[in-house]
Amino acid sequence: MFSLTRFGMKTLGRLSRGIQLGWEAGFDSGRTLDYVYENKPQGFTPLGRAVDRAYLNSIGWRGIRVRKINLQKVLRDAIQQTHKEGRPVRLLDIASGPGRYVLEIIREQSQIPMSALLRDYKPENVEAARRLAEELGLKNVTMMLGDAFDHGSLAAIKPKPTIAIVSGLYELFPANQPVSDSLRGLADAVEPGGYLVYTKSGSPGPLGTALDSFGLPAKSSLLPSENMDQFGPE
Ligand SMILES: C[S@@+](CC[C@H](N)C(=O)[O-])C[C@H]1O[C@@H](n2cnc3c(N)ncnc32)[C@H](O)[C@@H]1O
Repeated sequence: MFSLTRFGMKTLGRLSRGIQLGWEAGFDSGRTLDYVYENKPQGFTPLGRAVDRAYLNSIGWRGIRVRKINLQKVLRDAIQQTHKEGRPVRLLDIASGPGRYVLEIIREQSQIPMSALLRDYKPENVEAARRLAEELGLKNVTMMLGDAFDHGSLAAIKPKPTIAIVSGLYELFPANQPVSDSLRGLADAVEPGGYLVYTKSGSPGPLGTALDSFGLPAKSSLLPSENMDQFGPE
């Protein structure tokens, strides 16, 4: 069954913009997630657009869009709380992809002064985030390349962020040590009393479900959510 789905993804699927992008950039890439958030079916020929619509409506991608809404809600609360406490709002996202969910919230909460640093290890994502910030008319956002698992480069971030975000990252990596290094880097980076907003997936989670339902072999490499729980506050 999976090989049939996979075959379909490689043949008919090529007519769909989203599936083509998945093969090109990765089905778990920042660009694919951004396409899923945008949720505007595109494709070659009406058949291609119909396949794309079905792809975007699959259960896993619907879950990813719900996750974005929940993430934005938590982010909004953290921003308002930080501001209410009279502290500066300085956001840091360590693997932002194009960062649509953060950038939309910065624009929505424009009455609160804030700055943001968006990092990703792929130049194409840093560039996409820069373009999107420009499109949204945001000035106080900086983008840069950076490794989300490098303790030293996280710990050295200045000025110290007050809200750190990790979305759709840790669950992609099966090994505990890099996640632990990253969290320790964030603990050193974030101002005391700041917030960490992160997503964690149950097994297989929305991304795992999406990849799984297209016959793509990512589920086995996802970090189970129980592994995340052992990194609670020390
Ligand atoms: C599933 S996407 C999530 C993107 C975005 N945070 C979101 O939730 O929509 C995973 C992102 O992590 C980035 N990434 C993967 N490994 C990384 C690393 N070691 N350092 C920084 N970014 C990384 C990828 O380039 C990609 O943009």
